[in-house]
Amino acid sequence: MKVTVVGAGAVGASCAEYVAIKDFADEVVLVDIKEGFAEGKAMDLMQTASLNGFDTKITGVTGDYSATAGSDVAVITSGIARKPGMTREELIGTNAGIVKAVAQSLIAESPNVIIIVVSNPMDTMAYLAHKSIDLPKNRIIGMGGALDSARFKYRIAEALDCPQSDISAMVIGGHSDTGMVPLIDKAVRNSAPVSQFLSAEKMAEVVEATKVGGATLTKLLGTSAWYAPGAAVSELVRAIALDSKKMFPCSALLEGEYGLNDISLGVPCVIGKNGIESIVEMELNDDEKAKLAASAEGVAAVNALI
Ligand code: LAC
Repeated sequence: MKVTVVGAGAVGASCAEYVAIKDFADEVVLVDIKEGFAEGKAMDLMQTASLNGFDTKITGVTGDYSATAGSDVAVITSGIARKPGMTREELIGTNAGIVKAVAQSLIAESPNVIIIVVSNPMDTMAYLAHKSIDLPKNRIIGMGGALDSARFKYRIAEALDCPQSDISAMVIGGHSDTGMVPLIDKAVRNSAPVSQFLSAEKMAEVVEATKVGGATLTKLLGTSAWYAPGAAVSELVRAIALDSKKMFPCSALLEGEYGLNDISLGVPCVIGKNGIESIVEMELNDDEKAKLAASAEGVAAVNALI
């Protein structure tokens, strides 16, 4: 398995690191436009191989897409990240041009690639990738829900004072502060509903903290987060590499699922060697349905700007 990661900034480098450490890929190619930057990150990471015990070969190139030829998976993290106080949507002007050009360069070298879009505003960037290149819809995946769900599990486990491994929970909808739909009524600690352990007020706090999870970190760090985004991407890449058919919420192009059309939005997806193997239509209650519809409206309004 050959994996390309475009953008050797914090998220891209962290993604490359986690992919390498998990040791399922033969090769990771990091691409950046800043002269020597991807080469430097790749060399630094390669010098961890004997320490961290992986055999994945990591190389870096400056804007040379020929080095990405024959990639099985490509992750697009390029573009600008938000600064404290900014929304993901404010990045659209700069990032739309970058994501479109990157997607076209990738597909020219790797016609069979599966693309994972991470650049923000992610749902719109995934939609733009669908519109810019002619790939079947299963081969463009927006990464947001896997990260937001990890943040949701963190917040639930914190509130319950239990290990995160006890928690199963999912966030669907748009990857934005207002668009996320954390499915709190469906969250469980093993099989017990979390509502059994938390008051309605506490559940509302958990939901709110989850939705602003990225913004909270941006405020603390001065730029957007990278460990959890990188780890979330690496899990999607691993599910593709191992054809594991694990279910993650991902931004998928919808054609009638959940009553939505012509939009890329976070919904539960089974991930395997073909990318999105299937979209799972969960039964939602009226409140969840209304929130997902509102989230779709918000993403559609941003899509109208591209
Ligand atoms: C975040 C960015 C990756 O949520 O959107 O941290």
